Amino acid sequence: MRVELEIWRQDGPRANGRFESYAVDDAEPEMSLLELLDHLNDQIIEGGGEPVVFESDCREGVCGMCGFLVNGKPHGPQDNTPACRQHLRAFPGVTRFRLEPWRSEAFPVIRDLVVDRTALDELIRAGGTVDVAAGTAPDADSVAQPYLQAEQALDFAACIGCGACVAACPNGAAMLFAGAKLAHLSLMPQGRHERSRRARRMAQTVNEIFGPCSLYGECVPACPAGIPLTAIAALNREVLRAGLRGRSRDD
Ligand code: SF4
Ligand code: FES
Repeated sequence: MRVELEIWRQDGPRANGRFESYAVDDAEPEMSLLELLDHLNDQIIEGGGEPVVFESDCREGVCGMCGFLVNGKPHGPQDNTPACRQHLRAFPGVTRFRLEPWRSEAFPVIRDLVVDRTALDELIRAGGTVDVAAGTAPDADSVAQPYLQAEQALDFAACIGCGACVAACPNGAAMLFAGAKLAHLSLMPQGRHERSRRARRMAQTVNEIFGPCSLYGECVPACPAGIPLTAIAALNREVLRAGLRGRSRDD
């Protein structure tokens, strides 16, 4: 099958970008969007051109490296699916794709479809880790944890840090990402020592770097990890809790 592509090409962070048109005449329904790009790049290289730059690693929905806008949708036409797992067979009849990088002020374009997602790392630095000296790792079973609570924490821990939620949001908010981290850590005993401090720091950083959340919910169908909107409620709850405990309390 023939697939026509319009792809954003940009030589560097300060260069002007533009869409360029390409066609792949022998695309297969089994190809993922990344395999389609691989195939196109072989064609471009054979013709002496510069291949399209995009990110990927695991290609099985685990690492969070892949991601770009496909016809305006983060990751592609299928909801809750990373670009590496979106196959042409899943959207029959669609033979024209417009690929462009995440469009968000917090994610400047590095080259072609690759953006700088350091802003998400800033959020992790602000509160996505446990800072207190916890000694050597305790035995996994030494701290009892209610089953449902552990399952909930794991659901929030599923976030792969791809940034699609930010790209989907009309405000460029990162509340789904920040909420997933806060909810995950506050549900685990290991994350409770600095629970209030973490909530204050993450809320401050998310407000400084990203846009405000208006609860449109556009982030939820874009999220390949299926993080629910309740992550944002969890973030707001953690910030309220931290405020009620007062600035002198870390926990
Ligand atoms: S919350 Fe979902 S969309 Fe946002 S970074 Fe995590 S996995 Fe990606
Ligand atoms: S390449 Fe790892 S999630 Fe897509």
